[in-house]
Amino acid sequence: MTIKDYYNSLSFVALNELLKQHPQKKIEKLLSTFKCIKNPDLEEFLITPDKAIQSEKRAITRTYLYLELQDRDVIVVAYFTITLKALHTDGLSKSIIKKLDGIDKNREIIPCYLIAQLGKTTYCKYKIGQNILDDAIATIRESYQIIGGRFIILDSVNIQEVIEFYKNEPNSFVLLDQNSQKQNVKMYYPLT
Ligand SMILES: CC(C)(COP(=O)(O)OP(=O)(O)OC[C@H]1O[C@@H](n2cnc3c(N)ncnc32)[C@H](O)[C@@H]1OP(=O)(O)O)[C@@H](O)C(=O)NCCC(=O)NCCS
Repeated sequence: MTIKDYYNSLSFVALNELLKQHPQKKIEKLLSTFKCIKNPDLEEFLITPDKAIQSEKRAITRTYLYLELQDRDVIVVAYFTITLKALHTDGLSKSIIKKLDGIDKNREIIPCYLIAQLGKTTYCKYKIGQNILDDAIATIRESYQIIGGRFIILDSVNIQEVIEFYKNEPNSFVLLDQNSQKQNVKMYYPLT
């Protein structure tokens, strides 16, 4: 099966909709099928009920799932979580602050969108990362069309392969943070 065929075979669903249609216990069971050995934080956010589910119920975040039917079981093979963020600009150069803000090089806090989580299960052998990121950006763009907002932020794990995934064409996220000692590095994606 090609990457495209595999991706098209998945069901793309909003956690919000699932919570309206099914008992929470059933959703918790579904979310617990997601495994990510490379990034335990990604797994933990989804499978811990007081994280993804509670954040969804309180409208703090919005999570979107990719579901695969395996035999008779449905499993979560990938997901992303998006939300709003107030970016604190301390430590950033004046030119970057002006670029992000659009007007003021001294702005201390700038509103933006955040890709809080994004990734696929360890057992997914298809390279669908690009499709997931495209969907996350497209979903944010729906909000951008209505209320504006200048850029997307994410905290990438500080691993070269992952940074390159975000940085390389066609994604073109830009590093905001060059500190190689940190566990995560901030990157942004201009929407304008
Ligand atoms: C990042 C990701 C979405 C990219 O998906 P993809 O385009 O389908 O590509 P791959 O899964 O093949 O990943 C590309 C490379 O990055 C490596 N990689 C990805 N995430 C990694 C991680 N967290 N730690 C170490 N290496 C990682 C892969 O092993 C692969 O390396 P290879 O080319 O040498 O085999 C996907 O790898 C993923 O979900 N990773 C785990 C979760 C994660 O870390 N998400 C990013 C949070 S900021």
